[in-house]
Amino acid sequence: MRVFVAGATGYIGSAVVRELLGAGHRVVGLARSEQAAAALAEAGAEVHRGDLDEPGSLRAGAADADGVIFAANKHITETADPAARARVERAAVEAIGAELKGSGRPFVVTSGVIGRAPGRLLTEETTTDPGMLSAPRLAVESSVLAMAQLGVRSSSVRLAPTVHGRGDARGFVAALIAVARATGVSAYVGDGANRWPSVHRLDAAVLYRLALESAPAGAPLHAVAEDGVPFRDIAGAIGRRLGLPAASLTAQEAGRHFDGFIAPLVALDSAASSAVTRELLDWRPARVPLVQDIEEGHYFNGLAVLP
Ligand SMILES: NC(=O)c1ccc[n+]([C@@H]2O[C@H](COP(=O)([O-])OP(=O)(O)OC[C@H]3O[C@@H](n4cnc5c(N)ncnc54)[C@H](OP(=O)(O)O)[C@@H]3O)[C@@H](O)[C@H]2O)c1
Repeated sequence: MRVFVAGATGYIGSAVVRELLGAGHRVVGLARSEQAAAALAEAGAEVHRGDLDEPGSLRAGAADADGVIFAANKHITETADPAARARVERAAVEAIGAELKGSGRPFVVTSGVIGRAPGRLLTEETTTDPGMLSAPRLAVESSVLAMAQLGVRSSSVRLAPTVHGRGDARGFVAALIAVARATGVSAYVGDGANRWPSVHRLDAAVLYRLALESAPAGAPLHAVAEDGVPFRDIAGAIGRRLGLPAASLTAQEAGRHFDGFIAPLVALDSAASSAVTRELLDWRPARVPLVQDIEEGHYFNGLAVLP
């Protein structure tokens, strides 16, 4: 297929591009700068110049494609308000949808599995709580999945909040390392038994490809390799690598200790299953699990900075 990828230069998107090219697809990546265009050419992709703020440029990118993957997002450092970021993303995906309408072509959008379901597993069928943290993002996903009714083979890849692997400079693990370095403590809340699901970036990339190739229209998919890694284990691995103590904090202390986008998430118990996704697409995540990935050490070579 000739695949248009928005976000092709990002942490997730660049892995998706590599996965697609490796499987014999052609890739046209969205680039908003010379630097991005050069990176795409270097990776072996074609370049489509455009910007998320110009939905027409996204529609034009989709016009010549056999399928579209959307893994772009305006970074928090560029647009702080999540609702404003989601509005831009929604306009962008709707422009793509207008182009794909009635064609049966695949359209894979990026979403997330963060939710409030303490004590139970979020599944692909979990009805989403409109009050949850990722609500603005879910509106983007809903818009794309609804395109299944309009002749688009749409699907969503709901990423585990912890997408880990080499090059992760702005994700959850990198942020936790930065806080531990700054405070001298690798902290968790209470007994630290709250769980975060995780996926390796390269396993997630495989799922995007499988979704593009064969997900049924309207399918939400879980990019979750580990259902729930206890937060205490993540903090422990970071502490061991940094030579710092792992310590329990009360919720109040944690409010002062953590900052940035992870602050409201550190106490979240958000285990998630991907059983339906694995069965549907024969997706078999095979990369190194989260704690082992932290222990391998690449996170500690100067990349870990807060956004
Ligand atoms: N990384 C994680 O751990 C993680 C975890 C869960 C969910 N996610 C989700 O996965 C998606 C991708 O995340 P990521 O970590 O890959 O993000 P990222 O590394 O920041 O990449 C974002 C991509 O979007 C592009 N972009 C941003 N603003 C743009 C604009 N105005 N016009 C055109 N392109 C623009 C960037 O292009 P430039 O190269 O030009 O900046 C880049 O290709 C996001 O929706 C994120 O919320 C990520």
